[in-house]
Amino acid sequence: MVTSSPDSGNGNGNPVRTVIVPAAGMGTRFLPATKTVPKELLPVVDTPGIEMIAEEAASAGASRLAIVTAPSKDGVLGHFDPRPDLEQTLAERGKDKIAAKVRRATEVIRVESVVQNKPLGLGHAVLVAEPLLDDDEDCVAVMLPDDLVLPMGVMDRMREVRERFGGSVLCALEIPHEEVFNYGVFDIEPAGGEGAKGEDSPADVKRVRGMVEKPDPEDAPSNYVAVGRYLLDRAIFDALRRIPRGKGGEYQLTDAIELLIQEGHPVHVVVHDGFRHDLGNPGGFIRACVDFGLRHPDYGAGLRAYMEERLEQDQ
Ligand code: UTP
Repeated sequence: MVTSSPDSGNGNGNPVRTVIVPAAGMGTRFLPATKTVPKELLPVVDTPGIEMIAEEAASAGASRLAIVTAPSKDGVLGHFDPRPDLEQTLAERGKDKIAAKVRRATEVIRVESVVQNKPLGLGHAVLVAEPLLDDDEDCVAVMLPDDLVLPMGVMDRMREVRERFGGSVLCALEIPHEEVFNYGVFDIEPAGGEGAKGEDSPADVKRVRGMVEKPDPEDAPSNYVAVGRYLLDRAIFDALRRIPRGKGGEYQLTDAIELLIQEGHPVHVVVHDGFRHDLGNPGGFIRACVDFGLRHPDYGAGLRAYMEERLEQDQ
């Protein structure tokens, strides 16, 4: 089903044409809000996380956002539909700037969607999006809408790494060792193999030997943790069809990536020089709101003054 279709075809040889955005999860950690409001529509200041992802996908050169939704989450697609009535009322009242903000989601990228009938896991969500791809697409990007990876633009580097090393490319952040127990942790070696140097082994690229989910810090193979950006070879769909249900009874994307690694498929990570906001849980979401709020031209100064005053009261 096509929900909006501005013509943003890339036609420029960019190999990442489609970005899959899995948005069919239950948002359990955000209940009761997510009983009726999809997690992906919760606003960071005034813009839903999924609109930020649409901007990121468009600036990475993609021409199609393939949103995976649940039967109960129509609002996610509605956000990308035009609202001429609202725009007209705003225009009549001289609120052109706000009307432009309303229109933005409909212009940024072409949106298509597919329904995941049951929340059977991230791997399953990616698999149900396969029919949206064109036959000649040999890779696909996946961006998780509850993960803001900042500064934006890591997919450009991931694309270069796929051109250089082939296979699939994931995104990693280096974090303090004692915090790794919350994340998927990469077991890595230098790109190009031990002893490789220069062009053959860029400092921000590592080859992945495997992944460990939420390890005790003493068992963690590295300080490099996975964040929600993937550039996957089309072979991922075949791997997703072959994996059994994993952790939590769900089909896990990381299990399919592990299977590819075992079969000799090259998988690398780009170590992103930046940070991430995890919008998927209230604690991470509040931080993102504070961060974006402090940097906002209208609200930043007032928020800063309020926070300073408020923190003083707690001393
Ligand atoms: P999360 O695990 O962060 O989302 O999945 P969730 O399942 O909604 O969260 P909790 O654990 O219940 O609080 C990462 C992304 O994958 C999507 C989610 O919507 C989220 O954007 N997802 C997850 C699916 O599309 N389908 C699934 O079956 C699971």
